[in-house]
Amino acid sequence: MASPVKSLCIVVPKAEGESVRKKLLDMDNLRKDLIVDRDESNVFFPIFKKMDLGYDVKEMDFKEAGVVVRSYIDVIDIPEELRPLLPTSFDIVGEIAVIRIPDDLKDHSSAIGNAILEANKPIRTVVSDEGVMGEHRLRKIEVIAGENNTTTVHKEYGLSFSVDLSKAYFSPRLATERRRVAQKVQEGENIIDMFCGVGPFSIMIAKNVSPVSIFGIDSNPYAIKSFMDNIRLNHVENVVPIQGDVRDMLGSLEPADRIIMDLPHRSFEFFEGALGALKEKGIVHYYEILTEVAARDRENELSATARNLGRDMEIEEQRVVRRYSPTQCHFAFDIKVS
Ligand SMILES: C[S@@+](CC[C@H](N)C(=O)[O-])C[C@H]1O[C@@H](n2cnc3c(N)ncnc32)[C@H](O)[C@@H]1O
Repeated sequence: MASPVKSLCIVVPKAEGESVRKKLLDMDNLRKDLIVDRDESNVFFPIFKKMDLGYDVKEMDFKEAGVVVRSYIDVIDIPEELRPLLPTSFDIVGEIAVIRIPDDLKDHSSAIGNAILEANKPIRTVVSDEGVMGEHRLRKIEVIAGENNTTTVHKEYGLSFSVDLSKAYFSPRLATERRRVAQKVQEGENIIDMFCGVGPFSIMIAKNVSPVSIFGIDSNPYAIKSFMDNIRLNHVENVVPIQGDVRDMLGSLEPADRIIMDLPHRSFEFFEGALGALKEKGIVHYYEILTEVAARDRENELSATARNLGRDMEIEEQRVVRRYSPTQCHFAFDIKVS
C-alpha cells in the first residue's frame, strides 16, 4: 500500500460538500491526485493552497489516487496465500499498463498481466516496471502480457503525447503539476524547459498561453524525436526542441523569464546554471526528490547558491507533487529570483 501524502485540506460539513467541491474545481484548487476523505460529519477536500471560503483549513494525510484495480484481482488465478501481495494500483500510459510487481510475485507476472488485460479492455500491453535509471531516466520495463509494443499515445487534459516507454521518460503522475505550472505562465514569456523529455510541460504551456516562446532541452535523442512528433500532434507553435546537454546549450539561449527543472534526482547540480540563464527577474520551477528534513536544508542551500551569484530569491510556494518512497517525496519549489 502506498504511504499517505500530507496536504492542506478544507473541512466542509457533509451537506455542503458538493457545492464546495464544484467551487474548488472552478478555482482549480482541488487536488485530484489525492483521494477525498470523510468522517461522520465532514468531507476533507485536499487543496493546493490555503483559501478562505469560511471553512477550516488544516494539514492531514491523504491516500494517493491511483487506478483501483480490484477487478484484475477478482479475475486472477494465483495461490490464495499470495493474494495479499498483489499490487492494488498501476499506472496507465495510453494503452499500456505499467505495474510494479513485488519480488515474491515475479513468477506470476504473466498471470498478473493477463488478468489486467482481461479486466481492462482498453489496455493492450502490460509491462512490469523495475524503476527509472541512467542519465536519460529510462524506465526498465518488460512486456508481461499483450502486444509486444511499448509505443503509445497518452491523453492528458486534452493533449496527446506519443512516447516509447522503453526509449524516453514519461510519467502520467505529473499531469496535475504540469497543468499547475502552465496556468502560472503569462503571455509573452520566454521559457526554458531544461529537461523536457517528450515535451509535456512545454506543450501544455504552449497550448495554454499565447504568445509564448519555449525552448525544450533534452540529451536523449529519442525524447527529442518524440517531442517533435508531439508538437505536430498537438498543433502548437513557438516550441523549439533542442537535443543536447543543458550545460552546453543554456549559454546560447536568450535569458528566460521562467525555467523548468524537472530532473528530480540531480536538479541541485544544475541550479547555478539555471540562475545564469534567467533574466534579472524570473521564476524557477525546481523539482527534487528529498526527505522532509532534507527539503528544509535544501531551501538554505538554494538561497546560498543564489547569494553567491549576487541574486536574491524567495520560495513562493513549496509543495509535495507525490510520495516517492516511504521516506522521500517529490517536491516542487516555485522560486522567485531577483
Ligand atoms: C524526469 S525526465 C523529465 C521529463 C519531462 N519533464 C516530463 O514531464 O515528462 C528528465 C529528462 O532529463 C534528461 N536529461 C538528463 N540529464 C540531462 C542533461 N544533462 N541535459 C539535458 N537533458 C538531460 C533525460 O534524458 C530525461 O528525459
